[in-house]
Amino acid sequence: MRIDILTCVPNLLESFFAHSILKRAQQGGFVEVNVHDIRDYSTNKHRTIDDYAFGGGAGMVMQIEPIARCIQALQADRNYDEIIYLTPDGELLQQRAVNQLSLKGNLILLCGHYKGVDQRVRDLFVTKEISIGDYVLSGGELAAAVLADAIIRLLPGVLNDETSALTDSFQDNLLAPPVYTRPADYEGSKVPDILMSGHEAKIEEWRYEQAVKRTRERRPDLLK
Ligand code: 6GU
Repeated sequence: MRIDILTCVPNLLESFFAHSILKRAQQGGFVEVNVHDIRDYSTNKHRTIDDYAFGGGAGMVMQIEPIARCIQALQADRNYDEIIYLTPDGELLQQRAVNQLSLKGNLILLCGHYKGVDQRVRDLFVTKEISIGDYVLSGGELAAAVLADAIIRLLPGVLNDETSALTDSFQDNLLAPPVYTRPADYEGSKVPDILMSGHEAKIEEWRYEQAVKRTRERRPDLLK
């Protein structure tokens, strides 16, 4: 998989992808992440990429030309399955969409800033619009990082048995059950006996019951 991220603050994203599982995924050749500075596609000497909104109102709008040039330069080399714009008015991100995107080959993630991008970018280039929740961030970069992380960890080979995605919360519409590690007794607070019993089938049954209980208590909407 190849992910190209378009942003006017590339530094914000570069350190994120240079660490942990995401670094391993790139070193292992499972994914190639490229961060592009939209300012590099500005044609004026101040490298500006935004301007005042037609019709007035507060806030700057990201212009179409630099974004279009950046997208077209990428499209000259390969086809993209989706051009995704991260925006609070997009479709709310759920695990189902993450699973689907993890099967794609080439993705562009476009991060907006200020009052967002000129509507024509969305009309002419964007194929999918995603929000990561009902709250407003100061830019799409954190949302792009969230989306890319959620996708990349699902790519075959990226996770090992210990970090397997199969037991994630949401993969079966259930929250994950509680987990414990040593010590078995922390100042009188003990690990449930069942987990120390060595009885594999009983442990699986307990975990399933706990997952259902936790989901019923915290996210009953997932059980409907
Ligand atoms: Cl994708 N962008 C911004 N700026 N804020 C958000 C968001 C995206 N998703 C939730 N809030």
